[in-house]
Amino acid sequence: MKNQLESVEEMLLMGPGPSCVAQTVYQALARPTIGHLDPKFIEIMDQIKAMLQQLMNTQNRLTLPISGTGSSGMETCFVNLIEPGDRVLILINGVFGKRMEDLAGRLGAQVDTLEFEWGTPVDPDAVKDKLAGNDYMMVALVHAETSTGVCNPVAAVSGVVKDSPALFLVDTVTSLGGIPVDVDAWHMDAVYSGTQKCLSCPPGLAPVSFSQAAVDKVMNRKTKVPNWYLDLTMIINYWEGAQRAYHHTAPINMLYALYQALFDILEEGTKNVFQRHKMAHEQLVDVLKPMGLDMLVAPGFRLPMLNAVKIPQGADDAGIRKRLLTDFHIEIGAGLGPLAGKIWRIGVMGHTARPENIDRLAQAFSEVL
Ligand SMILES: Cc1ncc(COP(=O)(O)O)c(C=O)c1O
Repeated sequence: MKNQLESVEEMLLMGPGPSCVAQTVYQALARPTIGHLDPKFIEIMDQIKAMLQQLMNTQNRLTLPISGTGSSGMETCFVNLIEPGDRVLILINGVFGKRMEDLAGRLGAQVDTLEFEWGTPVDPDAVKDKLAGNDYMMVALVHAETSTGVCNPVAAVSGVVKDSPALFLVDTVTSLGGIPVDVDAWHMDAVYSGTQKCLSCPPGLAPVSFSQAAVDKVMNRKTKVPNWYLDLTMIINYWEGAQRAYHHTAPINMLYALYQALFDILEEGTKNVFQRHKMAHEQLVDVLKPMGLDMLVAPGFRLPMLNAVKIPQGADDAGIRKRLLTDFHIEIGAGLGPLAGKIWRIGVMGHTARPENIDRLAQAFSEVL
């Protein structure tokens, strides 16, 4: 039998994730697998929690990675916090806000939404108006909307939400590690992320963080958390305390990878890492413009790590992406939903965010366009 893995080639990953993985992280994945209750592994887990707290700017004790991709982080936040009949407000301006609405509905929440045009940010004043006279248990939004390239004004929205009794839930799957995520300063109560974007790990883990108010909500539930695997009241007994209790077998080597990725980010310095993303974004905008490639999102609301580029009239969307992939070994992303066929999504996330990668993409674009 032919071993398919032998013909897997290295790609320059410039789509919406996964991003390129550093050699240090690949080496971490190849470290020997040890037991999930081995004291050495518990030390590694404790340091992962501490590094996540540092990157998320939070003192939240309940800060840990969930086993599973970013969506498992989303499910963890929603299944632990929502009980049937809870009123929640979801702010939507892209695919991932829509997913929150779907999930909250499946859990029996009374879901209200505020929708904004895709490619534009959530408007904090509209949120303020909606909150007046409404008693929500939770308000949720996506920080970095990967489907459109919009950076939502989380700090401004948090200023509005904190004056209400609602918990504030934020998706930081694409933002964490690429732009500041200030969990405590922005009064975020539940946050989830993923490893394969700006953390530059392979996909497979979802860091989450819960504030004390969110933990209180979980602990005072009238009903059991409806999902066994993601029940934080049980998972916490593996991640905290002098005596650790088995819940499920931790994905040991993925946790090594996350450890190394966080270690590398903190060694480089978060300011430097954010600056590297910003410079990669600016370089990308500069090289694309003379080729007639414009950005979808207005300046000021653009994400550095996810660039929504308008596809020029008459250009062959799928054909161009295919040529980039097969002839140049570069992956870029297609548009989703109403933006399908209208934009390309170019990621400069984590290890990908380097000038030589932008140069390589620019060279390839100049040949295929
Ligand atoms: C903003 C956002 N939220 C959630 C997800 C879901 O994460 P995953 O695909 O890792 O399950 C993604 C994935 O692209 C995302 O970009």
